[in-house]
Amino acid sequence: MEIKLNNHFLDVKETYLFSDIAKRVKKFQEENPDREIIRMGIGDVTLPLPASVTSAMENAVKEMASKETFHGYPPEYGYDFLRDAIAAHYKEIGAPAITSNVIYVSDGAKSDLGNLPDILGDNPVIIPDPVYPVYVDSNLMNGRKVSFVAGNKENDFLPLPPADTNIEPSVIYICSPNNPTGAVYSYEGLTAWVNFAIKTGSLIIFDAAYEAFITEDKPHTIYEIPGADTCAIEISSFSKFAGFTGVRCGWTVVPDGLEAGGIKLSKFWARRQATKFNGVSYVTQKGAAASLSGQGLEDCKANIAYYKRNAAALAEVFTQKGIYFTGGVNSPYIWLKCPDNMGGWEFFDSILNRFGIVGTPGEGFGENGAGYFRLTAFGSYENTLKACEFFKTL
Ligand code: MLT
Repeated sequence: MEIKLNNHFLDVKETYLFSDIAKRVKKFQEENPDREIIRMGIGDVTLPLPASVTSAMENAVKEMASKETFHGYPPEYGYDFLRDAIAAHYKEIGAPAITSNVIYVSDGAKSDLGNLPDILGDNPVIIPDPVYPVYVDSNLMNGRKVSFVAGNKENDFLPLPPADTNIEPSVIYICSPNNPTGAVYSYEGLTAWVNFAIKTGSLIIFDAAYEAFITEDKPHTIYEIPGADTCAIEISSFSKFAGFTGVRCGWTVVPDGLEAGGIKLSKFWARRQATKFNGVSYVTQKGAAASLSGQGLEDCKANIAYYKRNAAALAEVFTQKGIYFTGGVNSPYIWLKCPDNMGGWEFFDSILNRFGIVGTPGEGFGENGAGYFRLTAFGSYENTLKACEFFKTL
């Protein structure tokens, strides 16, 4: 063939971080078929969907089986019942100005993060490091120029904006509670970023996928910060909150106040979604709506509490051992400094071989992740306690 390819794909690593880890674990399992594996690598939920949510989905399936209540293509931006339920959630968490018409339902945060560069021009991109690799990769794949702000032990992995506001208007990614570090911005920290974005004419893409894990007094949404509705898009998901990693549903908020060159960003996003996306199934959206109210909400909160108990157990061990870590309080992730100055991949091999524990090396999240390691609290309590016993012997 002599067609041209998008050679920007050569600018990203050959395999996606979690595919790489899955391959290594598969190999270990083949070589050690009798060893038990404790999976604390990818942040994938393990508790089943609550019955309150699946019964809403079952009812929706039954509706699909009857001529009178069958649903074909879903509305491209989501059914009103779900957009209204998400808007009610924003009211609950302190952002009543987010109304259903600015909420765009999708099949998950990862897709929206990957698709947003479609509507943005060739702006400089600022990304904290370490960070969820999808932000970097999806920009590199589109030929964008990425620069990093360093998260490290000195700033507890919560970097603040650069002091120099004399920069080109940029696209800035922020994830809070952060993946991978579990660190959460305070109101002051997030206000600093919003003020920086407004002053520099920049856009923030705020990833709130882990919002449900916040229990301390920290912002649940960027729209709690004054001015954010003029400079920020927010992306969120039912994956971690309602256990929808295998069901797929999320949303993006594009407020009306976001404008560049006299054009509303919502106009481009709506056009992009209408053209390239055919919506989320009725059954899925019914399940998602059920997770946001009544028994569904209670059940999802109970699942979050279960994972948080795992995180607390891990945090206790690392505190006792005097190992530096962030996260574990408002987040399902623990981000720890590898003992004995090991690199992340070295520690990965060491605990896989010694204990059968799989985690994620910090190197996979950027240069500043070197020598760090991410553990997830999404496993069973029993396995987490087993892992804790192993970590006590480090
Ligand atoms: C992670 O482990 O970082 C996440 O599960 C990946 C994702 O949400 O796509």
